[in-house]
Amino acid sequence: MDIVEESKTLSAICVLPTYNEKNTIAEIIECIFELQNEINNFTLKVLVVDDMSPDGTGDIVLGLMKKYQNLSLIQGAKMGLGAAYIRGIREAIDKLGADVIIQMDSDGQHDPNVIKNFLLLTSEYDVVIGSRFTEGGKVIDFSMWRLFLSLFGNFLVRYLGGAYLIKDCTSGFRSINVSILKKCDLKNFPTKGYSFQSWLICDLLNNGASITEIPITFEKRISGSSKLSFKDQIEFLINIFKIRFLNSKEFLRYGIVGSVGVLINLGSYYALTRFLDLSPIFSSPIAIEISILNNFLLNNYWTFSTRINETSIVRRLFSFHLVAGISGVLNYSVFLLMLYRMNLPDLYAVIFGITVGIIFNYAGNSLWTFRKVMKRKIKK
Ligand code: GDD
Ligand code: MN
Repeated sequence: MDIVEESKTLSAICVLPTYNEKNTIAEIIECIFELQNEINNFTLKVLVVDDMSPDGTGDIVLGLMKKYQNLSLIQGAKMGLGAAYIRGIREAIDKLGADVIIQMDSDGQHDPNVIKNFLLLTSEYDVVIGSRFTEGGKVIDFSMWRLFLSLFGNFLVRYLGGAYLIKDCTSGFRSINVSILKKCDLKNFPTKGYSFQSWLICDLLNNGASITEIPITFEKRISGSSKLSFKDQIEFLINIFKIRFLNSKEFLRYGIVGSVGVLINLGSYYALTRFLDLSPIFSSPIAIEISILNNFLLNNYWTFSTRINETSIVRRLFSFHLVAGISGVLNYSVFLLMLYRMNLPDLYAVIFGITVGIIFNYAGNSLWTFRKVMKRKIKK
């Protein structure tokens, strides 16, 4: 179901995972319900997903449920942040009728007021990320190590996971429209812990979500402690490689197209010289051009066909030639360098040249010629 702005009955459900957050949970819930005075096209609801916190967080929520009818609680065994979110999101969609899900921490590091800004953007975008790393975003009081983990983690998700359009892929503060969330196969996510956050964003992207980021300040934790464990970090790394592997379809197709191109180049050269009696001097460039055109069409209509692309086909064709030209020059330069400067055997030098050429060629076409853009949803 899509978001219709005029409707007054849409539900925005804040899913709050908690594990030992007795000092902050009540204030956060109260703040969220106070926002209702300023929001009139959504009914705000809160679902706390508590994993039987030993500090009694669940009892505090049970107490508040007497005051707030739109407050719910589910409790279960502690299996990690991701597992808690999966349970919470399914409950919010299946039982509580959510139209928008808001993910948020329960330790005071996320300012509930940002929810108003999220909800202003949900009719234009499927996902709104409260971003620490977009312009204007801040992180207060992160240790050097934690900052490094966050930046490095984001780097991996962006460039290995294919989410390079997004600056904060691991943020725990975001709103997601249920219409797009339903396309994600949550119950088969392999993530139990914090890596759920990055897996979800990559899955949303692969399902064609339009995503925007708004700056947030990630506040200092006022009490309790972070639950990010070493196990979470290992799970994160493993999952990045899983995402990379699942995303390798495009790279595989690109390789197939490249190999077909070599055969077409060879076949055209053979036909031009043997059947049309053209001289090798003319035949070779014509054969090269035929293979470039072939590769372009196959990549355009097959390899990258699912990408949203805003440039004209003529422009893409031009870029494709330019990338091919630069790759060729690079290939040749590396070959010369390896042969004459590094004194490598010529076949090794050829292999080096080809490798650098192919990497540049793929990167150039993937990140430039056929680069993705983030589409806004058409505003209703
Ligand atoms: N139910 C449940 N089960 N809740 C959990 C669990 C769990 O196993 N682990 C953590 N939580 C809750 C915490 O109680 C808190 O409300 C929220 O999830 C975030 O946990 P923190 O431990 O405070 O996370 P953080 O501040 O270190 O990490 C933040 O930044 C990460 C990226 O750098 C969070 O926003 C993460 O979601 C985010 O990925
Ligand atoms: Mn926290």
